[in-house]
Amino acid sequence: MNNKSKVLYDDGTHKCVMFSFDDETHEDSFLSVNQYLIIEYGAGFLIDPGSEAIFDELYDAISEYIEIENLKYIFFSHQDPDVAASIAQWAISTQAKFIMSSLWVRFMSHYGFADMNRVISLEDKGITLQFGEDALKFIPAHFLHAPGNFSLYDSKSKILFSGDIGAAILSSPDAYKKVQDFQEHKQHLLGFHQRYMGSNKICRAWVNKAEALDIKMIAPQHGFVFEDTNVGLFLAWLKELQCGSDLIDDLY
Ligand SMILES: [Fe+2]
Ligand SMILES: [Fe+2]
Repeated sequence: MNNKSKVLYDDGTHKCVMFSFDDETHEDSFLSVNQYLIIEYGAGFLIDPGSEAIFDELYDAISEYIEIENLKYIFFSHQDPDVAASIAQWAISTQAKFIMSSLWVRFMSHYGFADMNRVISLEDKGITLQFGEDALKFIPAHFLHAPGNFSLYDSKSKILFSGDIGAAILSSPDAYKKVQDFQEHKQHLLGFHQRYMGSNKICRAWVNKAEALDIKMIAPQHGFVFEDTNVGLFLAWLKELQCGSDLIDDLY
């Protein structure tokens, strides 16, 4: 397993770190994933920790930035195994609270997790969580792609952690890359978004929410981050995308 981490933002008291894991021994079968750690005055907030396969490496990588007992929250954008399958391991090894859509709380027992007292369950409209001096906003992203799904906006770094929205499925991605040329990159977005995202109406609802935020970067769970002008180019692309139920005649 190969991990590299990259600091996306650091103002001295607040930091955002990206971890990217790729399994070099199973290049064809392992779906590369990004995890993100927000650090506020030494306290940690982990986003989409992923599967059992990367637990040990991610635990060690986080330990290089914070004391594990200071990991306060772990957020799951949705229920998928590449997002949440390691929840039982994190429950044993930390005191963190787990944040997820109310739709998925009971499903976590199938990943071997049962301590529901540690779950903060989000209703559909989301909440704002005060994290030190930072405000973390849970933005509805339902049906993009899971029926209960959230993105997370960090008010200090102005990074929107978008989960599978903006994900690029690439055969051998580098650990950290930002999109250079959106027109070239969109070929890596198209197939995934057409099939996994709910519909154009839902994409527009999310883009409307995103456009109300001051976004410096969009950071997805797979592939590359979008920065500066590529944020607007991606949002404009998503707004026009035909996907999911728009394309139902191709599937039935
Ligand atoms: Fe997913
Ligand atoms: Fe994913």
